Amino acid sequence: MIEARRSATESEAAKVVDLGCSYGINGALLKHGLSMDDLYRLYGAAEADNLETLLARDRDLYAEPADATLEMVGVDPASRAVSYAVDAGMLDAGISTDLETRDPTPEDTAAIENADLIISTGCIGYAFALLDVQTGSPLRATSGGKGMLPNGAQL
Ligand SMILES: C[S@@+](CC[C@H](N)C(=O)[O-])C[C@H]1O[C@@H](n2cnc3c(N)ncnc32)[C@H](O)[C@@H]1O
Repeated sequence: MIEARRSATESEAAKVVDLGCSYGINGALLKHGLSMDDLYRLYGAAEADNLETLLARDRDLYAEPADATLEMVGVDPASRAVSYAVDAGMLDAGISTDLETRDPTPEDTAAIENADLIISTGCIGYAFALLDVQTGSPLRATSGGKGMLPNGAQL
């Protein structure tokens, strides 16, 4: 989908907003080219228990992205997870908020507006605050998951 979007916009630069990003797993996969097997190996190892050691290792690991023109922005109320993902370099930016219950601040909007693609993995049942692709504004959709997708389709 990212390549299709690049082709449609005739631009290499692309921005992906990851709703419910947690520790930035999708950034590791999409921006850094890691596989799920890589992640199991990296985060299942003993040194993953020590946060400082882990952060230092991850900063090195994510210092040179496989896809530097892909901007990954995460949204998740779990502030420690978002901070870690940004500090480590899995995400370019992160917003720690719950858009189901709070309006975006101007800073939130600046970070998420003009997204080329909005993704969300493992969040059905948690998050239904969908975002308007152009403005980054939430399209409220909290009643049992019945809501509008940006293209007008229904959940
Ligand atoms: C099962 S985890 C999935 C994490 C990640 N997307 C993945 O695939 O590994 C669900 C995530 O949704 C987040 N979440 C819960 N409510 C949310 C909301 N209203 N908006 C955004 N994220 C939310 C949780 O904090 C948690 O990080």
